[in-house]
Amino acid sequence: MTEQQIKSALEKFESLIREQDVRSDKIKAQGDFLDFAALPKIIIGVCGGDGIGPVITRESARVLSYMLADDVAAGAVEFRDIEGLTIENRVAQNKAIPDDVLKELKSCHVILKGPTTTPQAGDPWPNIESANVAMRKELDLFANMRPVKVPSESIDWTFFRENTEGAYAVGSKGLNVTDDLAVDFVVTTTEGTRRIARLAYDYARRNGKGRVSVVTKANVIKTTDGKFLRLCKEIGAEYPEITTDEWYIDILTAKLIDEKRRKDFRVFVLPNLYGDIITDEAAEFQGGVGTAGSANIGKRYAMFEAIHGSAPRMVKEGRGQYADPCSMLRASVMLLSHIGRQRQADMLERALDICMYEEKKIAITGRDTGCTCAELGDYVMETVTRFGARN
Ligand code: IPM
Ligand code: MG
Repeated sequence: MTEQQIKSALEKFESLIREQDVRSDKIKAQGDFLDFAALPKIIIGVCGGDGIGPVITRESARVLSYMLADDVAAGAVEFRDIEGLTIENRVAQNKAIPDDVLKELKSCHVILKGPTTTPQAGDPWPNIESANVAMRKELDLFANMRPVKVPSESIDWTFFRENTEGAYAVGSKGLNVTDDLAVDFVVTTTEGTRRIARLAYDYARRNGKGRVSVVTKANVIKTTDGKFLRLCKEIGAEYPEITTDEWYIDILTAKLIDEKRRKDFRVFVLPNLYGDIITDEAAEFQGGVGTAGSANIGKRYAMFEAIHGSAPRMVKEGRGQYADPCSMLRASVMLLSHIGRQRQADMLERALDICMYEEKKIAITGRDTGCTCAELGDYVMETVTRFGARN
């Protein structure tokens, strides 16, 4: 390694540290959560994304507008279509989120977002940052809440994945110091950790869940994970009625498949990358990633999405219209709850449970052996009508 290579690596490292210092100060200066009840009108942005994204997003927006029909008629809710968050446009502009799209996103209060394709090294596209990751950072959506429920097996888990820090904070800005040496960085800030921990414990308190599990690999990743664990436990001490326990990610991954132990878990709080990995595993118990929705929550904005990718193969094989919208419909339940429409959220959730697990009048298989995405949407709305008035 030459002196010049060391110098250049140190300069890049310095600029990363300066950037993260600014971000950390911004978090500290942040106000409280947006009060939806005080807004004259709630604006819901809808962006379809790539692959099966537009199909399942359109369907979920149709169901959401049905659930919110009276609010829309009264001018209390507006849906706004946002174009341009496609891999073609992102590549053409060489931006994870093109500027005009970001401006439109910021003109909304909440966003329903379809999966977007994330380029990786070796793909035909430039290796731009994931649109998901960029949106979480740009809108400071620091909490990724991912529920997984299998009532027949007493599984009732809610994951609070930290969403802007950890291995993702500068995941696209690692250093190739030389041809032989590459370095990535993991970032943990005090306020960044405290705010996700508070959200997890508040949720546990509000919903009568007596247990929060803090998941790290603090025995090895001593500095950042060690800090995360210590701060979560400090916050946990403010909630004496809730039991806090600590798990390392490796053994937790094993315990989630232990039928005797997994029933006991309730709420998890964990750094970004572990949350990413474990929520795919967890979703598998409930029928796969296609069934799981996720809420990306910040103080000012919130974005609701599936936990899976854009499945370009389905579209290539002409099966796009058979894509399963359930993940986005579960995300829509969380959206309704987030904007203070709990009654509609409960109705939609109940209808989804009936359609997906109980009655199952029609089934979606991802191909022409099952129903289409739109037929499933119709079935869900027809099921909702059985509960009476939506407002
Ligand atoms: C998720 C996804 C994203 C992530 C990808 C698409 C960048 O896997 O939302 O879990 O890693 O966060
Ligand atoms: Mg993931």
